[in-house]
Amino acid sequence: MIYLDHAATSWPKPESVYQTMDRFLREKGGNPGRGSHSLATAATETVEETRRLVARLINAPEAKRVIFTLNCTDALNLGLKGSLRPRDHVVTSSIGHNSLVRPLKKLEQQNVKITRLPPSPELGVLSARDIEEAITSDTKVVVVTHASNVTGVIQPIDEYGAVARRHNIIFMVDAAQTAGKHPIDVQAANIDLLAFSGHKGPLGPPGTGVLYVGNRVNLDSLREGGTGLYSEREEQPDVLPYRYESGTLNSVGISGLGAGLKYIFTEGLERIRAHERSLIDRLIEGLSSMPGLILYGGKEGYQQAPVTSFTIEGYEPGEVGAILDQAFNIKVRTGLHCAAAAHKAIGTYPLGTIRLSPGYFNTVEEIERTLQALDKIARSYKQLPQLRTGYKNPK
Ligand SMILES: Cc1ncc(COP(=O)(O)O)c(C=O)c1O
Repeated sequence: MIYLDHAATSWPKPESVYQTMDRFLREKGGNPGRGSHSLATAATETVEETRRLVARLINAPEAKRVIFTLNCTDALNLGLKGSLRPRDHVVTSSIGHNSLVRPLKKLEQQNVKITRLPPSPELGVLSARDIEEAITSDTKVVVVTHASNVTGVIQPIDEYGAVARRHNIIFMVDAAQTAGKHPIDVQAANIDLLAFSGHKGPLGPPGTGVLYVGNRVNLDSLREGGTGLYSEREEQPDVLPYRYESGTLNSVGISGLGAGLKYIFTEGLERIRAHERSLIDRLIEGLSSMPGLILYGGKEGYQQAPVTSFTIEGYEPGEVGAILDQAFNIKVRTGLHCAAAAHKAIGTYPLGTIRLSPGYFNTVEEIERTLQALDKIARSYKQLPQLRTGYKNPK
């Protein structure tokens, strides 16, 4: 089996992630931050250790600015809804995932004004100048996606951050496709809010996500409740990170996230990036020369996350995914990838694309086998009737 869907979630995880979670549940199963018995303090220590590891990954000035969330969607909701009020203005790019698009739509219905900027015509990056020109006196937040989960093109967030800082505007980044894969420095890039999943690049389990909250943001909480601390108060404490972490944390998931991050630090982010880069480069190179295949993203001169998308003439994307799965045991994502706006921008709406997203554990040989399978599919459009008729387009 070949798994090429790391943009959805990384799999498999490093062996240490499985072991750490198993050990955590068996040996440290107390409730973190609740009580002072040894199982509770062991759980607290694990959670705080992971918080420090996350802070190290993104160069956060203080670990308490790292908030654990359910996933990247949860982090984006907290960052946007916690900072925006009616009549505020937001500048964003039109290549976002629904986890950014939908909270913004909801806020728009509550009278938040939104300017959506398209990427450049050749499907590349959004210019910092376009962002600056869209800023008005009401602009409160500039929010961008670091790398599109459709094309993989990486946006120059340092340039956007400098613009936002110059205008004293909150700068928020969705780093779901880059955290744990590409260096991110929240201080150097002037990032005030950074949202990402723990279960993708950072190699943690599902149910983990992070919101980094910088000291220029006065973020409201979206959820109030028990924090284990300041229990005498009826109001939600305004102390970081507890203000945003009411209720029992996913401590077992956070222990796994910590193990994933330790694995990344041991291997080295640069090494991981270089391997994934070599895999995506080879995929893009191989796909570029196939008959009837149109590639999106992966253009010369752009920085690229390990994600790329394409279509094959004569096939619906879902059909190619089904053939890859059933005939070749290769797992890829097809369709809109929860990012209809990005597909509208690149002209692949409504059927979407076939997306390949390799990870650190994929091998060069797996990439070659995938290219061979795709070449066969692209060339034998008319010779796979049994597979072609078996496919049903999911609604
Ligand atoms: C760019 C982008 N943002 C946000 C998300 C949402 O991540 P999660 O599923 O962890 O909420 C994804 C998931 O694929 C993504 O690709």
